[in-house]
Amino acid sequence: MTTPTLFSPLTIRSVTFRNRAWVPPMCQYSCVAGDGVATAWHHVHLGSMAAGGAGLIIAEATAVTPEGRISAHDCGLWNDAQRDAWKPIVAFIRGQGAVAGIQLAHAGRKASIWADWGTDGKTGSQPQSEGGWQTIAPSAIEFPGYLPPREMTDNDIIEVTNAFVSASRRAVDAGFQVLEIHAAHGYLLHEFLSPLSNLRDDQFGGALENRARLLVDIVEKMRAEVGEETLIFVRFSATDWSPEGWNEEECAVVADWCLKAGADLFDVSSGGNITGVSIPVGQGYQVPLANFLKQHAHGPTAAVGMITEAAFANSVIESGQADAVLIGRESLRDPHWTLRAAVELGVDVDYWPAQYRRAKPKIR
Ligand SMILES: Cc1cc2nc3c(=O)[nH]c(=O)nc-3n(C[C@H](O)[C@H](O)[C@H](O)COP(=O)(O)O)c2cc1C
Repeated sequence: MTTPTLFSPLTIRSVTFRNRAWVPPMCQYSCVAGDGVATAWHHVHLGSMAAGGAGLIIAEATAVTPEGRISAHDCGLWNDAQRDAWKPIVAFIRGQGAVAGIQLAHAGRKASIWADWGTDGKTGSQPQSEGGWQTIAPSAIEFPGYLPPREMTDNDIIEVTNAFVSASRRAVDAGFQVLEIHAAHGYLLHEFLSPLSNLRDDQFGGALENRARLLVDIVEKMRAEVGEETLIFVRFSATDWSPEGWNEEECAVVADWCLKAGADLFDVSSGGNITGVSIPVGQGYQVPLANFLKQHAHGPTAAVGMITEAAFANSVIESGQADAVLIGRESLRDPHWTLRAAVELGVDVDYWPAQYRRAKPKIR
């Protein structure tokens, strides 16, 4: 039997993934001390997925500045204590044979909201009077229901760029092999890309080249900082799901520019920048967007969104629509999804943790 492509290795630059079943970034809001330092929860949460066979584990959106956190309980990577806390977690992930990745993020106008849990049910913006902070964005347009951001100055743009670069250095020093730039879900870099949230009339607004300038510049500077070995992924929301918004045609053009600037792969999600749009949610609903980028942007892609079944995951890759799949909530339901998928597809993988071998089912 030929190995299902889901379980064939993939090599990009000098990094080899043992398979194409990956775990996407998922915020845990577990830095409850408010210091952005990863905790035992992150170790167990990410470690269990590495033990569970995934080829790549991407740690959650990790803010490059304090103001770039979605909530006060987010992870950060703007200081060395935060870097050092990741080291044993990364070592464990890699020790299990998985590739360790981290998503570097700035939440822009969607920053300073109450964490998802542990805040007595409070939702929406956390006001400055209650420990929140002034948010920043390309333009002073609020995300519906949130407090208004301040329009970024040229100096803010330089500071954010530098923060992505220093965070990428710390991530590499912590042992991460994949750095994913968060340009999706209505956070800062997506806000720049979309004409719905970027009304600037300077070199960062208007024409596509201007809206993409900050992202492309960050890719280029991160590549210069980390050298040739580390992989740089970009997570896009490939569409705002609105006729007036950012869409997959524009995204493919920008993806190509990112490739030239040093990016290696596109993790293709969608939405999050506006409310009130209808999204055709269903099994693999974002796979066509990954396929569109694969066809038009000349680089590898990963598909994400409601991919839960082994056979379907494999079909996404075998049909050439994406090079890898990211299994999100299903990995929270079952951190050992990949080992289970291997059994279901009849693949005898050699990376069951030795400690668990007595539980390994016989492969026909
Ligand atoms: C608890 C949770 C936290 C998430 N946090 C992030 C995040 O930090 N960064 C990001 O780009 N997407 C985040 N997402 C989106 C996931 O990465 C993924 O794109 C989404 O859940 C769809 O995939 P799924 O249907 O397999 O869950 C999060 C999703 C969940 C469920």
